[in-house]
Amino acid sequence: MTSLAYGDLGEGTPLVLLHGFPFPRQMWQFQHDGLAKELRLVTPDLPGFGESAVSTAAPDLGVMADGVLDLLGRLDLDRVVLGGLSMGGYVAMEILRRRPEVVGGLVLADTKASADPAAGADNRRRMAAVLEEGQNPRVLVHEVLPTLLGETTRQERPEVAQWLRELVEQADPRGAAWAQRAMAARPDSFDTLAQVRVPTLVVVGEEDQLSPPADAQAMVDAVPGAQIAVIAGAGHLSAAEAPDEFNNLVCDFVLEHS
Ligand code: MLT
Repeated sequence: MTSLAYGDLGEGTPLVLLHGFPFPRQMWQFQHDGLAKELRLVTPDLPGFGESAVSTAAPDLGVMADGVLDLLGRLDLDRVVLGGLSMGGYVAMEILRRRPEVVGGLVLADTKASADPAAGADNRRRMAAVLEEGQNPRVLVHEVLPTLLGETTRQERPEVAQWLRELVEQADPRGAAWAQRAMAARPDSFDTLAQVRVPTLVVVGEEDQLSPPADAQAMVDAVPGAQIAVIAGAGHLSAAEAPDEFNNLVCDFVLEHS
């Protein structure tokens, strides 16, 4: 297994945040600036993104989970608050399946516990083939990026939209194709969530079209005692679109439960 690149900032309770697709860990820029003042923030680049190499294994989110668990071992972190946004949430659920004891608290942002319907999985595999054939991330800019941001961000914060577009344009097409194939194969995670016995916060942008508030509520209903926070004026990338609200929610949650 190749070691994951990562950021490690601040001191205190360790919070590990797993980024969404198709971004590198720089997606957490506003969390690096905000949350790392209050706690220790570890942000891996998942395999095939940012500075982490594309995996040579068959596409499977378990490979990403194993990479994160390997990193926690290298950092001597045996229990952390684990957070994931969208694809990062899917990976967090894989970690819960493998090593639930490392998760002392859980933050699931703009993600869902259901598997893809057949048409959605087919679309991911089509996109993976386009990425592999074209060897450029154009299809991500044209087909994925427009679905990520909420209407409010598109209208009122074009600089955020531009920043995220630049990150997408830097995506390695091989890494993005691998991740699409891995996400297409992911299982339903409701049974996994029903086993969770640690404090859990589910965050969702009110304008999230990919993992809308109904998906967030379904996860809250699955995890005993979970709480939900809906962020107004944010879409699927709530951490980047409404960073102050996101940071306050997550910081309060982590400090309250540490
Ligand atoms: C993400 O933001 O990570 C993606 O929207 C996940 C997905 O495609 O399901």
